[in-house]
Amino acid sequence: MPLVCVCSPKGGTGKTTLTANLASSFARMGIKALAVDFDVQNALRLHFGVPLSDGSGYVIQSAQSTDWSQAIYSPGGNISLLPYGEVSEQQRLAFEHSLIHERQFCQRGLNTLLTYPELIIIADLPPGPGAALQAVGALADLHLITLLADTASASLLPRIENQRLNGRLGHYLVLNQSDSRRAVSRDVTAFIEQRLDERLIGVIHRDESVIEANASQKFIFDFSPMSAAAFDIDSIAKKVAVSLNVQVGNSAY
Ligand SMILES: Nc1ncnc2c1ncn2[C@@H]1O[C@H](COP(=O)(O)OP(=O)(O)O)[C@@H](O)[C@H]1O
Ligand SMILES: [Mg+2]
Repeated sequence: MPLVCVCSPKGGTGKTTLTANLASSFARMGIKALAVDFDVQNALRLHFGVPLSDGSGYVIQSAQSTDWSQAIYSPGGNISLLPYGEVSEQQRLAFEHSLIHERQFCQRGLNTLLTYPELIIIADLPPGPGAALQAVGALADLHLITLLADTASASLLPRIENQRLNGRLGHYLVLNQSDSRRAVSRDVTAFIEQRLDERLIGVIHRDESVIEANASQKFIFDFSPMSAAAFDIDSIAKKVAVSLNVQVGNSAY
């Protein structure tokens, strides 16, 4: 089933927030969604209410088992999580070495999940290039690249435009933290909207509810369902589902 790769050349652009809330939005639409953390920060689990003291994850298991699905955390409903886990530096290096040098290491690890019927997998990548982007990117049906509505992000556009990131459905950009009250944010948003046209799949407002939802370890749709960001992320989820040709089921979340 489809795999979406959420990535960015820049850190702090909202990859983890988008991954968690896209999964939540899909689940609310009646689509089974699995979020997979590829970032050693191991922060995706916090959006799913996993306690800080719970350091379990698939990276540790990947040293013993080729199938990573045993590490799945299921809070219930249509949504589930594959946490990275709390790992030592040695374990991280060994995992990344396997991602780069073992043929089909990532494919094998995710295989049970990739063949699970009607499941969308959303992978949360660390910033920039690296072993995970190389391995996951090769399996992905679609790349979503998050950028901020600021000048540093705008300066990265040529680099993104010149990359052929995905040979299947291509890549789309998500512009995050757009704030019409700030001149630079407003101008960068207008510039990127014009320059990217249909490759810009959505703009997410800068919204305090996102920060508060994250701090409460809740999805935006549970914390503040009427917020601007909830509306924006829902709209992106619907467009992604259409791009992936996934049938929207009965809401069972
Ligand atoms: N739309 C938004 N409005 C306000 N704050 C946001 C928004 N999206 C993300 N944030 C905040 O920005 C910070 C970085 O987000 P995060 O998802 O961790 O980025 P990344 O995974 O790319 O490093 C977090 O503190 C998060 O709460
Ligand atoms: Mg992150």
